[in-house]
Amino acid sequence: MTDLRADGAAALEWAAAYLERVGELPVLAQVAPGEIRARLPDSAPEEGEPFAAVLRDLDEVLLAGVTHWQHPRYFAYFATSASEPAILAELLAATLNSVSILWRTAPAATELEGVVLDWTAQLLGLPRGWHGHIEDSASTSTLAAVIAAREATGRDQVVCSEQAHSSVHKAARMLGLRLRQVPCDDELRMRADALGDLSQAAAVVATVGTTASTAVDPVEQIAAACRRAGAWLHVDAAYAGSAMVCPEFRWAFAGVEHADSVVVNAHKWMLTPMDCSLLWSRRPEDLRAAFSLIPEYLRTPDAEDALSLSEYGPALGRRFRALKLWAVLRCHGRAGLQAQIRQAVRLAATFQAWVDGEPGWELCAQRTFSVVCFRLEGSDERNRELLEAVNRSGEIFISHAVLHGRYVLRLAVGNWRTSEADLARAWETLRRISSRL
Ligand SMILES: Cc1ncc(COP(=O)(O)O)c(C=O)c1O
Repeated sequence: MTDLRADGAAALEWAAAYLERVGELPVLAQVAPGEIRARLPDSAPEEGEPFAAVLRDLDEVLLAGVTHWQHPRYFAYFATSASEPAILAELLAATLNSVSILWRTAPAATELEGVVLDWTAQLLGLPRGWHGHIEDSASTSTLAAVIAAREATGRDQVVCSEQAHSSVHKAARMLGLRLRQVPCDDELRMRADALGDLSQAAAVVATVGTTASTAVDPVEQIAAACRRAGAWLHVDAAYAGSAMVCPEFRWAFAGVEHADSVVVNAHKWMLTPMDCSLLWSRRPEDLRAAFSLIPEYLRTPDAEDALSLSEYGPALGRRFRALKLWAVLRCHGRAGLQAQIRQAVRLAATFQAWVDGEPGWELCAQRTFSVVCFRLEGSDERNRELLEAVNRSGEIFISHAVLHGRYVLRLAVGNWRTSEADLARAWETLRRISSRL
């Protein structure tokens, strides 16, 4: 049997020691596919083992197969951080094990979710009075928005730019809707003048901070076109939305007040561990019309019904995710959230300047937030080889994109432990390994 106090202390000690030494581990897991599975038994044990055995195997078996997202030299995709208050809140949420299927099964979880979504909306400059709730991922948030749009409009087309995240395409495909991709301008923003006929559009998805280059679509103009055509405007700000806590980035949210729904992933750039995707809508009744389906066994008095967040999205049972976001908002405050955004952007600007000043390297896209797209002069193949080699080194982990038909390297700053020394090491690693290609 597990002794919660003794084993819990050991687990917390493990977590604290891990976060202290994570920077010394190889960022990208240095294992081959199947290697971890091969080290694990085929079946569960017959009799229960002590929790210490789990911790031991975490170290001895699993850790080699962990790609360290908490590593200060993690620069791939969108770098993230799970901060300490949120880590502890996850433990407490699991301890309570609240299951919000209805308001009455988890009143505190339900009402706190409303409160933290209101607080975050204020921090990011979203209009007051919008309904907000938490989904697991931006993929689910966008799917939910598109479902509501389909129900509200009775139409069967989804429109987004050619730089929109694949989750938009996937939502359309899962729903049997037609997808139309609008071309982008030279800076990879959706061309509002190329939106075309929106009379069949259920939803238009605009992106604030595209996945490849963090470009910002012209939301204001797209919103005007949606209004004229009666199409639902969903804004995907999964990554960049968190930056709106800083007034100097608010220009990127111009026009968002006209959106029908907006998604921001707190688990991307708001110090909150996976998973915590924030979905706001100014049309909660349309979400409710699309998702409310209450079988007899879940019926409660009407006043309670409307508060059950399971009526606003796909899932019935919902985790107490609001607790970790609450811990983040309370323990970091607006100032702490702003500081980590500004630090990431400052570091990305520093890296950009290094690339810019170095012969043989080029910048490949406008840097808007904390992502730098760059490449080594020469072929796509050379850059692909460089990416594989630096990632294999374990020193850093970066990812790639294809922009204007060319393969480019992407360095995303977002871990709040990343220092200028980490960035210098990344740049040194890239230059050293490139010279050997
Ligand atoms: C702009 C954008 N939207 C949506 C997503 C999907 O996010 P999730 O993994 O939460 O589904 C991503 C992922 O990086 C993204 O960059």
